[in-house]
Amino acid sequence: MKVLAIETSCDETGIALVEGTKTSEGFAFETKKAALLSQALLHSPYGGVYPNLAKREHQKNLPALFEQFANEEFDAVAVTHGPGLEPALWTGIEFAKKVAAEKNVPLLPTNHMEGHLISSLAQPSGEHSNILQNVRMSVLALLISGGHTEFVLMKEWLQYEIIGKTLDDAVGEAFDKVARMLGLPYPGGPEISKLAAQARKKLPEKGEMNTTPTPFSGTFSVPKLPRPMINSGTCDFSFSGLKTAALYALRDRGGIQKLSNDEIAAFAAELEDAIADVMVSKTRQALEQTNAQTFVIGGGVAANRYIREKLQALVLEEFPDIDLRLPQLSITGDNAIMIAQAALARALSGLNDTAGPELRAVGNLSIAS
Ligand code: KG4
Ligand code: ZN
Repeated sequence: MKVLAIETSCDETGIALVEGTKTSEGFAFETKKAALLSQALLHSPYGGVYPNLAKREHQKNLPALFEQFANEEFDAVAVTHGPGLEPALWTGIEFAKKVAAEKNVPLLPTNHMEGHLISSLAQPSGEHSNILQNVRMSVLALLISGGHTEFVLMKEWLQYEIIGKTLDDAVGEAFDKVARMLGLPYPGGPEISKLAAQARKKLPEKGEMNTTPTPFSGTFSVPKLPRPMINSGTCDFSFSGLKTAALYALRDRGGIQKLSNDEIAAFAAELEDAIADVMVSKTRQALEQTNAQTFVIGGGVAANRYIREKLQALVLEEFPDIDLRLPQLSITGDNAIMIAQAALARALSGLNDTAGPELRAVGNLSIAS
């Protein structure tokens, strides 16, 4: 089965054509063609995604990207209908409706978070191929992005329960907002991560977890940032306090203009440490609580090398029997391949619901609905 997928939930415009087949042990996906346009640079001056600008860009980008697919044959059109920014989602939905009607194929509404989850669970099996097989249930997924931070438990195939989530900001948002305070461009996560790695390299030896790198003592002591809710005993998160603590810590030191580049890098490392500590502690809690057999991480923040390393170490040292699936870096950010894979996993399992002209954007769509 071939699916043309469209993703416009945030600031990436994506179209992908993916063929999926059922195999004896699961599913195989082959990406026939994929196109992606990022608007990140355009949104950079705003320090975040500006919904109406995103909408205008998707409206411009979709027809341009679709030219590459106009002569292709496919059996269905999948489209992200949530969660995401509604004005942005609508442009993809309206476009998908038109394409599905013109080609006379069904429209498959697809959940963006399921796209992150399924594509992270699938493993590479060639340059453009992935296999989704031998998945040991239940699966615990940590989905971390600019809009979400949640633990999703899949006890039965493609049925989800949210067992913990952020009570306020998403982790990507924390990275982006603190990055902005540090004068770094949007998206801030990769920038923080780069600086943090530079700061750690300057340490005489690699800082242990829970300790703050302080290579610049004397002129500047790196403030210790809080690890919000780390001992709450739940799988919930909170990041707004971390953001505020970062703001006050910078203000106490007279603002970033008073800091050297090394000091800014050390601050970035402390922020990344604080976030990684919380991720590790909450994942330990969630794995103990659920007894999951597979652990997967997905979403834009799953590209963070430091968080990946820390989570990998946790699983290797404390949960060695668990199957850990880390996504390929190329699919952690928003894209349409992940939407196609989620739609195919559903369709090939006989679980998809098709939609008609009534399909709507649902900004706060839950993966568990
Ligand atoms: O999944 P995604 O591409 O879009 C949403 O669905 O939100 O996630 C985007 C988020 C942004 O907040 C960005 O700063 C963050 O992912 N991000 C990172 C890294 N790469 C992207 N955060 C930390 N470290 C990274 N390497
Ligand atoms: Zn996303």
